[in-house]
Amino acid sequence: MVEFSLRPRYLSEYIGQSRAKENLKVYIEAAKMRGEALDHVLLYGPPGLGKTTLSHIIANELGVSIRTTSGPAIERPGDLAAILTNLQAHDLLFIDEIHRLNRSVEEVLYPAMEDFALDIMIGKGPSARSVRLDLPPFTLVGATTRAGSLSSPLRDRFGVVSRLEYYTIEELSFIVQRAADLLQVRILEEGAVEIASRARGTPRVANRLLKRVRDFVQVQGDGIITGEAARYALNRIQVDKLGLDHVDHRLLMSIIEKFRGGPVGLDTLAATIGEEPNTVEDVYEPYLMQIGFLQRTPRGRMITLRCCEHFGVEWPK
Ligand code: ADE
Repeated sequence: MVEFSLRPRYLSEYIGQSRAKENLKVYIEAAKMRGEALDHVLLYGPPGLGKTTLSHIIANELGVSIRTTSGPAIERPGDLAAILTNLQAHDLLFIDEIHRLNRSVEEVLYPAMEDFALDIMIGKGPSARSVRLDLPPFTLVGATTRAGSLSSPLRDRFGVVSRLEYYTIEELSFIVQRAADLLQVRILEEGAVEIASRARGTPRVANRLLKRVRDFVQVQGDGIITGEAARYALNRIQVDKLGLDHVDHRLLMSIIEKFRGGPVGLDTLAATIGEEPNTVEDVYEPYLMQIGFLQRTPRGRMITLRCCEHFGVEWPK
Protein backbone atom coordinates (compact mmCIF):
# COMPACT_ATOMS: atom_id res chain seq x y z
CA MET A 1 0.00 0.00 0.00
CA VAL A 2 1.58 3.26 -1.15
CA GLU A 3 -0.07 5.40 1.53
CA PHE A 4 1.49 3.38 4.31
CA SER A 5 4.95 3.43 2.83
CA LEU A 6 4.86 7.25 2.77
CA ARG A 7 4.64 7.20 6.52
CA PRO A 8 7.92 7.56 8.38
CA ARG A 9 8.83 4.46 10.36
CA TYR A 10 11.34 5.85 12.85
CA LEU A 11 11.57 9.06 14.85
CA SER A 12 14.62 10.14 12.85
CA GLU A 13 12.46 10.26 9.68
CA TYR A 14 9.58 12.03 11.36
CA ILE A 15 9.40 15.73 10.53
CA GLY A 16 7.82 18.29 12.87
CA GLN A 17 6.10 17.97 16.28
CA SER A 18 9.53 18.54 17.73
CA ARG A 19 8.43 18.89 21.34
CA ALA A 20 6.36 15.72 21.37
CA LYS A 21 9.08 13.92 19.45
CA GLU A 22 12.02 14.94 21.64
CA ASN A 23 10.19 14.01 24.81
CA LEU A 24 9.01 10.67 23.43
CA LYS A 25 12.57 9.87 22.45
CA VAL A 26 13.62 10.20 26.10
CA TYR A 27 10.72 8.15 27.46
CA ILE A 28 11.32 5.39 24.92
CA GLU A 29 15.02 5.25 25.67
CA ALA A 30 14.39 5.20 29.42
CA ALA A 31 11.84 2.37 29.15
CA LYS A 32 14.28 0.38 27.01
CA MET A 33 17.15 0.96 29.45
CA ARG A 34 15.03 -0.30 32.31
CA GLY A 35 13.62 -3.20 30.29
CA GLU A 36 10.09 -2.05 31.06
CA ALA A 37 6.99 -1.37 29.01
CA LEU A 38 6.69 2.29 28.07
CA ASP A 39 4.13 4.13 30.17
CA HIS A 40 0.72 4.70 28.49
CA VAL A 41 0.63 7.53 25.96
CA LEU A 42 -2.27 9.77 24.98
CA LEU A 43 -1.92 11.59 21.65
CA TYR A 44 -4.46 14.27 20.91
CA GLY A 45 -5.07 16.92 18.30
CA PRO A 46 -6.89 17.51 15.00
CA PRO A 47 -7.14 14.69 12.43
CA GLY A 48 -4.29 14.00 10.03
CA LEU A 49 -1.41 15.25 12.17
CA GLY A 50 0.22 11.85 12.62
CA LYS A 51 -1.25 10.16 15.67
CA THR A 52 -1.44 6.75 13.98
CA THR A 53 1.97 7.24 12.37
CA LEU A 54 3.52 8.12 15.72
CA SER A 55 2.04 5.07 17.41
CA HIS A 56 3.63 2.81 14.78
CA ILE A 57 6.91 4.67 15.20
CA ILE A 58 6.80 4.21 18.98
CA ALA A 59 6.33 0.45 18.47
CA ASN A 60 9.21 0.32 15.96
CA GLU A 61 11.50 2.30 18.25
CA LEU A 62 10.64 0.03 21.17
CA GLY A 63 11.03 -3.05 18.97
CA VAL A 64 7.64 -4.42 19.96
CA SER A 65 4.51 -5.52 18.09
CA ILE A 66 1.56 -3.21 17.70
CA ARG A 67 -2.08 -4.18 17.79
CA THR A 68 -4.44 -1.48 16.47
CA THR A 69 -8.12 -0.98 17.10
CA SER A 70 -10.52 1.88 17.74
CA GLY A 71 -12.98 3.02 20.39
CA PRO A 72 -16.12 2.24 18.38
CA ALA A 73 -14.77 -1.19 17.31
CA ILE A 74 -14.60 -2.40 20.91
CA GLU A 75 -18.27 -2.88 21.65
CA ARG A 76 -18.29 -5.06 24.75
CA PRO A 77 -15.94 -5.66 27.70
CA GLY A 78 -15.32 -9.15 26.32
CA ASP A 79 -13.94 -7.67 23.06
CA LEU A 80 -11.35 -5.72 25.02
CA ALA A 81 -10.56 -8.70 27.26
CA ALA A 82 -9.87 -10.81 24.16
CA ILE A 83 -7.43 -8.21 22.84
CA LEU A 84 -5.65 -7.71 26.16
CA THR A 85 -5.16 -11.40 26.87
CA ASN A 86 -3.56 -11.86 23.44
CA LEU A 87 -0.84 -9.26 23.98
CA GLN A 88 2.79 -10.25 24.52
CA ALA A 89 4.87 -8.55 27.22
CA HIS A 90 5.70 -4.90 26.32
CA ASP A 91 3.47 -4.91 23.21
CA LEU A 92 1.76 -1.72 22.16
CA LEU A 93 -2.01 -1.49 21.93
CA PHE A 94 -3.19 1.44 19.83
CA ILE A 95 -6.78 2.59 20.36
CA ASP A 96 -7.82 5.27 17.89
CA GLU A 97 -10.80 7.51 18.74
CA ILE A 98 -10.43 6.44 22.33
CA HIS A 99 -13.01 9.02 23.43
CA ARG A 100 -15.64 6.78 21.81
CA LEU A 101 -15.12 3.81 24.14
CA ASN A 102 -18.26 2.99 26.02
CA ARG A 103 -18.46 3.14 29.77
CA SER A 104 -18.48 -0.61 30.46
CA VAL A 105 -15.40 -1.12 28.28
CA GLU A 106 -13.62 1.80 29.93
CA GLU A 107 -14.10 0.18 33.30
CA VAL A 108 -12.25 -2.93 32.15
CA LEU A 109 -9.46 -0.70 30.90
CA TYR A 110 -8.75 1.03 34.24
CA PRO A 111 -7.29 -1.96 36.15
CA ALA A 112 -5.67 -3.16 32.92
CA MET A 113 -3.79 0.13 32.57
CA GLU A 114 -3.02 0.60 36.22
CA ASP A 115 -2.25 -2.88 37.51
CA PHE A 116 -2.03 -4.96 34.30
CA ALA A 117 -4.98 -6.93 35.60
CA LEU A 118 -8.30 -8.00 34.21
CA ASP A 119 -11.27 -8.27 36.56
CA ILE A 120 -13.86 -10.62 35.14
CA MET A 121 -17.23 -11.48 36.61
CA ILE A 122 -18.16 -15.12 36.69
CA GLY A 123 -21.80 -16.04 37.04
CA LYS A 124 -24.81 -13.86 37.76
CA GLY A 125 -26.85 -12.87 40.80
CA PRO A 126 -25.90 -13.82 44.40
CA SER A 127 -23.32 -16.41 43.38
CA ALA A 128 -21.49 -14.03 41.00
CA ARG A 129 -17.87 -13.39 41.86
CA SER A 130 -15.02 -11.48 40.36
CA VAL A 131 -11.76 -13.13 39.32
CA ARG A 132 -8.57 -11.22 38.68
CA LEU A 133 -6.35 -12.31 35.77
CA ASP A 134 -2.82 -11.03 35.31
CA LEU A 135 -1.98 -9.39 32.01
CA PRO A 136 1.45 -8.94 30.48
CA PRO A 137 2.75 -5.38 30.98
CA PHE A 138 1.82 -3.43 27.84
CA THR A 139 1.72 0.12 26.55
CA LEU A 140 -1.60 1.66 25.63
CA VAL A 141 -1.38 4.44 23.07
CA GLY A 142 -4.70 6.26 22.82
CA ALA A 143 -5.49 8.79 20.13
CA THR A 144 -8.27 11.33 20.13
CA THR A 145 -9.31 14.49 18.38
CA ARG A 146 -10.97 15.63 21.59
CA ALA A 147 -9.07 15.24 24.83
CA GLY A 148 -11.92 17.12 26.51
CA SER A 149 -14.35 14.26 25.78
CA LEU A 150 -12.23 11.76 27.68
CA SER A 151 -13.48 10.91 31.15
CA SER A 152 -11.03 12.12 33.75
CA PRO A 153 -10.33 8.67 35.27
CA LEU A 154 -9.23 7.53 31.83
CA ARG A 155 -7.19 10.65 31.07
CA ASP A 156 -5.45 10.40 34.45
CA ARG A 157 -4.17 6.91 33.68
CA PHE A 158 -1.94 8.10 30.85
CA GLY A 159 1.61 8.80 32.03
CA VAL A 160 2.44 10.73 28.85
CA VAL A 161 0.00 13.18 27.32
CA SER A 162 1.09 14.75 24.06
CA ARG A 163 -0.70 17.36 22.04
CA LEU A 164 0.02 17.40 18.32
CA GLU A 165 0.09 20.81 16.67
CA TYR A 166 -0.56 21.98 13.13
CA TYR A 167 2.65 21.84 11.05
CA THR A 168 4.40 24.91 9.69
CA ILE A 169 4.64 25.45 5.94
CA GLU A 170 8.37 24.76 6.14
CA GLU A 171 7.83 21.41 7.88
CA LEU A 172 5.10 20.45 5.41
CA SER A 173 7.34 21.41 2.53
CA PHE A 174 9.99 18.94 3.80
CA ILE A 175 7.29 16.29 4.20
CA VAL A 176 6.13 16.88 0.61
CA GLN A 177 9.69 16.67 -0.72
CA ARG A 178 10.28 13.46 1.19
CA ALA A 179 7.03 11.95 -0.13
CA ALA A 180 7.84 13.08 -3.69
CA ASP A 181 11.17 11.24 -3.41
CA LEU A 182 9.37 8.10 -2.29
CA LEU A 183 6.84 8.48 -5.11
CA GLN A 184 9.71 9.10 -7.52
CA VAL A 185 8.35 12.34 -8.88
CA ARG A 186 10.59 15.37 -9.41
CA ILE A 187 9.61 18.44 -7.45
CA LEU A 188 11.15 21.90 -7.18
CA GLU A 189 11.23 23.65 -3.83
CA GLU A 190 8.73 26.22 -5.06
CA GLY A 191 6.33 23.43 -5.97
CA ALA A 192 6.68 21.85 -2.53
CA VAL A 193 6.07 25.20 -0.82
CA GLU A 194 2.98 25.80 -2.94
CA ILE A 195 1.51 22.44 -1.94
CA ALA A 196 2.57 22.90 1.69
CA SER A 197 0.98 26.31 1.97
CA ARG A 198 -2.38 24.92 0.86
CA ALA A 199 -2.28 21.82 3.06
CA ARG A 200 -3.97 23.37 6.12
CA GLY A 201 -1.14 22.46 8.44
CA THR A 202 -1.78 18.75 7.89
CA PRO A 203 0.59 16.11 6.41
CA ARG A 204 -2.30 13.88 5.35
CA VAL A 205 -3.70 16.74 3.28
CA ALA A 206 -0.24 17.64 1.93
CA ASN A 207 0.38 14.10 0.70
CA ARG A 208 -3.06 13.90 -0.86
CA LEU A 209 -2.54 17.18 -2.71
CA LEU A 210 0.90 16.00 -3.82
CA LYS A 211 -0.62 12.91 -5.42
CA ARG A 212 -3.21 14.94 -7.31
CA VAL A 213 -0.61 17.47 -8.50
CA ARG A 214 1.53 14.53 -9.63
CA ASP A 215 -1.42 13.28 -11.73
CA PHE A 216 -1.65 16.65 -13.50
CA VAL A 217 2.08 17.01 -14.21
CA GLN A 218 2.31 13.45 -15.48
CA VAL A 219 -0.70 13.67 -17.79
CA GLN A 220 -0.64 17.32 -18.85
CA GLY A 221 2.89 18.52 -18.03
CA ASP A 222 6.47 17.35 -18.23
CA GLY A 223 6.36 15.32 -15.05
CA ILE A 224 8.11 17.95 -12.92
CA ILE A 225 6.25 19.71 -10.10
CA THR A 226 7.22 23.35 -10.48
CA GLY A 227 5.58 26.18 -8.56
CA GLU A 228 3.48 27.04 -11.56
CA ALA A 229 2.45 23.42 -12.20
CA ALA A 230 1.42 23.07 -8.55
CA ARG A 231 -0.61 26.30 -8.64
CA TYR A 232 -2.36 25.21 -11.83
CA ALA A 233 -3.27 21.77 -10.45
CA LEU A 234 -4.38 23.08 -7.05
CA ASN A 235 -6.62 25.64 -8.70
CA ARG A 236 -8.10 22.89 -10.87
CA ILE A 237 -9.00 20.87 -7.78
CA GLN A 238 -10.45 23.95 -6.10
CA VAL A 239 -8.11 24.25 -3.17
CA ASP A 240 -7.55 27.94 -2.57
CA LYS A 241 -4.44 29.80 -1.38
CA LEU A 242 -5.20 29.05 2.26
CA GLY A 243 -6.04 25.42 1.58
CA LEU A 244 -9.79 25.92 1.87
CA ASP A 245 -11.82 23.53 -0.27
CA HIS A 246 -15.44 23.64 -1.41
CA VAL A 247 -16.77 22.33 1.91
CA ASP A 248 -15.00 25.10 3.83
CA HIS A 249 -16.35 27.62 1.34
CA ARG A 250 -19.88 26.30 1.71
CA LEU A 251 -19.61 26.30 5.47
CA LEU A 252 -18.33 29.86 5.74
CA MET A 253 -20.50 31.30 2.96
CA SER A 254 -23.62 29.76 4.44
CA ILE A 255 -22.93 31.47 7.77
CA ILE A 256 -22.47 34.74 5.91
CA GLU A 257 -25.39 34.43 3.54
CA LYS A 258 -27.98 32.45 5.48
CA PHE A 259 -27.24 33.45 9.06
CA ARG A 260 -25.91 36.98 8.59
CA GLY A 261 -22.51 36.03 9.88
CA GLY A 262 -23.85 34.08 12.86
CA PRO A 263 -24.14 33.09 15.58
CA VAL A 264 -25.60 29.82 14.36
CA GLY A 265 -25.75 26.52 16.27
CA LEU A 266 -23.55 23.61 15.18
CA ASP A 267 -26.45 21.27 14.33
CA THR A 268 -28.22 23.87 12.22
CA LEU A 269 -25.03 24.76 10.41
CA ALA A 270 -24.12 21.12 9.74
CA ALA A 271 -27.62 20.36 8.44
CA THR A 272 -27.47 23.39 6.14
CA ILE A 273 -24.36 22.13 4.38
CA GLY A 274 -25.30 18.43 4.56
CA GLU A 275 -22.45 17.28 6.82
CA GLU A 276 -22.45 15.49 10.19
CA PRO A 277 -22.06 17.81 13.20
CA ASN A 278 -19.11 15.71 14.42
CA THR A 279 -17.33 16.06 11.08
CA VAL A 280 -17.87 19.81 11.07
CA GLU A 281 -16.62 20.09 14.63
CA ASP A 282 -13.59 17.77 14.41
CA VAL A 283 -12.46 18.09 10.80
CA TYR A 284 -13.41 21.50 9.40
CA GLU A 285 -13.68 23.89 12.31
CA PRO A 286 -10.31 23.45 14.05
CA TYR A 287 -8.37 24.76 11.06
CA LEU A 288 -10.85 27.57 10.35
CA MET A 289 -10.48 28.69 13.96
CA GLN A 290 -6.71 28.35 13.76
CA ILE A 291 -6.55 30.76 10.80
CA GLY A 292 -8.98 33.12 12.53
CA PHE A 293 -11.91 32.71 10.14
CA LEU A 294 -14.39 31.24 12.59
CA GLN A 295 -15.24 31.69 16.24
CA ARG A 296 -17.07 29.35 18.56
CA THR A 297 -19.17 31.39 20.97
CA PRO A 298 -21.66 30.26 23.60
CA ARG A 299 -24.45 31.28 21.24
CA GLY A 300 -23.03 29.48 18.21
CA ARG A 301 -20.60 29.84 15.34
CA MET A 302 -19.66 33.23 13.94
CA ILE A 303 -17.46 34.26 11.05
CA THR A 304 -14.80 36.94 11.46
CA LEU A 305 -13.90 40.09 9.57
CA ARG A 306 -10.79 38.37 8.25
CA CYS A 307 -12.98 35.67 6.71
CA CYS A 308 -15.14 38.29 4.94
CA GLU A 309 -12.00 39.97 3.61
CA HIS A 310 -10.68 36.67 2.24
CA PHE A 311 -13.91 36.10 0.31
CA GLY A 312 -14.18 39.76 -0.69
CA VAL A 313 -17.63 40.19 0.86
CA GLU A 314 -19.02 42.91 3.10
CA TRP A 315 -19.37 42.29 6.84
CA PRO A 316 -23.02 41.10 7.07
CA LYS A 317 -25.42 43.49 8.80
N1 ADE B 1 4.45 11.85 6.34
C1 ADE B 1 3.34 12.13 7.03
N2 ADE B 1 3.64 12.76 8.18
C2 ADE B 1 4.99 12.86 8.22
C3 ADE B 1 5.91 13.43 9.16
N3 ADE B 1 5.50 14.00 10.28
N4 ADE B 1 7.22 13.35 8.86
C4 ADE B 1 7.62 12.78 7.71
N5 ADE B 1 6.81 12.26 6.81
C5 ADE B 1 5.50 12.29 7.05
